[in-house]
Amino acid sequence: MIQQTKDRSEIVDPNFDPSVDEEAIVQAGGLSANTNRPQMLADFIGQSASKRILEISLRAAKERGEPVDHILLSGPPGLGKTTLANVIANEMGYGFVSTSAPAMTKPGDLAAVLFSLEPWSVLFVDEIHRLGKQAAEMLYTAMEDYRVDIVVGEGASAKSVSLDVPPFTLVGATTRQGALAGPFRDRFGLTIRLDYYAPEELEQVLARDARIMELQCTNGALANIARRARGTPRIAKRLLRRVRDVMQDERAPALDDTVVDAGLTLVGVDAFGLDSLDRRYLSTIASHFGGGPVGVETLGAALSEDRETLEASVEPFLLSRGFIDRGPRGRALTEQGRAALARGSGTDL
Ligand SMILES: Nc1ncnc2c1ncn2[C@@H]1O[C@H](COP(=O)(O)OP(=O)(O)OP(=O)(O)O)[C@@H](O)[C@H]1O
Ligand SMILES: [Mg+2]
Repeated sequence: MIQQTKDRSEIVDPNFDPSVDEEAIVQAGGLSANTNRPQMLADFIGQSASKRILEISLRAAKERGEPVDHILLSGPPGLGKTTLANVIANEMGYGFVSTSAPAMTKPGDLAAVLFSLEPWSVLFVDEIHRLGKQAAEMLYTAMEDYRVDIVVGEGASAKSVSLDVPPFTLVGATTRQGALAGPFRDRFGLTIRLDYYAPEELEQVLARDARIMELQCTNGALANIARRARGTPRIAKRLLRRVRDVMQDERAPALDDTVVDAGLTLVGVDAFGLDSLDRRYLSTIASHFGGGPVGVETLGAALSEDRETLEASVEPFLLSRGFIDRGPRGRALTEQGRAALARGSGTDL
């Protein structure tokens, strides 16, 4: 039932082997030096406003002797939703059960999970926007009243039986908050939106990993990676692993800017931190659609990428950097986007 999700950055990485999930190996204990997932709120870097809200809510719930209210975590891939769900369970000090909406194809699957919960545990449902209508409706009553209604029998003799489930906290994660039905969203007492990290915060994430990997780093090398990691801890950590490979391969005595530049060039990351899909996205708007505006479906067809990938993984970062505009008539390249593309590819567009 444990879902392993890949973010787009891994899909476009030419070195990425889809059969190898490094984080899963790490979690299984294979590569302990690579993991370093924060366990408690105090170890979780950045997202200070969200952390503060969580800290207060967790403390208050514990004081009252209640499970903390249901929490919806949203934001682009790799910003720490799964990690934060784990942290919440650790802070509460009860069980943690992790599942994902695509793994629950029948409402019975969800019922089985709900009935097996230890009281007060955290039930983490990844990709919660993909939950089917029936399962979502079952969750409504479970969230509100710790109760589910189950239909037994068939046809005229069918009847609905109401059964109690243990008190629990639902932590849902989504990269597409807008795809969640309004009544569902409203049942979460806390909605935490994770934002892209500042380079200084990513540098802290990297410093911790570098320490565990016992890497010698010269001044500025980690900052260089942090600036080019699309504001995303998962990407920062992955880039560090790639530059470490280059460092080892070249027998370099330390991780310096030369090694970082060589490593990032190898995996197709430019000076702005844009990767090959980002640049293809920008250059397709520029060259095929006269700079836009162009609808996302048309753009997806031109790029052979589905709309969800573009909307959840590519566009939020490009929008946050002001490289594109999104209006009623579609997506358009901005002046900054044009400049970034020209600088990254060494051409004028
Ligand atoms: N604030 C943080 N401090 C340190 N490491 C972090 C932080 N946030 C995320 N990470 C690390 O980044 C990686 C990705 O985080 P995580 O898997 O929780 O992201 P996610 O938001 O669940 O992504 P997805 O949407 O793809 O499921 C993990 O290795 C995690 O340890
Ligand atoms: Mg996740």
